[in-house]
Amino acid sequence: MVAIKWDESLSVGVDLIDEQHKMLIERINDMSAALNRHHAAPKIIKTLDFLIEYTDFHFGTEEKHMVKNHYPAFEAHKKAHDDLKVTLGHLEEDFMEEGATEDLAGSINVFLVNWLINHIHAIDTEFGKFLREQGIKMRE
Ligand SMILES: [Fe+2]
Repeated sequence: MVAIKWDESLSVGVDLIDEQHKMLIERINDMSAALNRHHAAPKIIKTLDFLIEYTDFHFGTEEKHMVKNHYPAFEAHKKAHDDLKVTLGHLEEDFMEEGATEDLAGSINVFLVNWLINHIHAIDTEFGKFLREQGIKMRE
């Protein structure tokens, strides 16, 4: 299992976003662990629900500040978030239909870890740079 670990290379230079990314990483790791240890379905579904809920909350935070500060790349960034939300919904459906299959464990593990790392490096870093250049502080 690929566990993801937060380190400075994942920092976008904005504390609130970094804190939420750390929490998101924790949630992804919880989900991977629950699948890999073949926990009972209710526990897995609870963990997946939590991951989905936290992802929603985190994207909401970023998007709120993009809109408020007229971030020029808002549309593309929001689309990346929306696409992931759809994928998470599919993962949940797959789990409901097929249970904790190897495929699902692999998707959660590899796909989400890769998605998050790429998203942070390629897209969130740009937003972080924008916020810093504009001298904008994100508090909530
Ligand atoms: Fe983002």
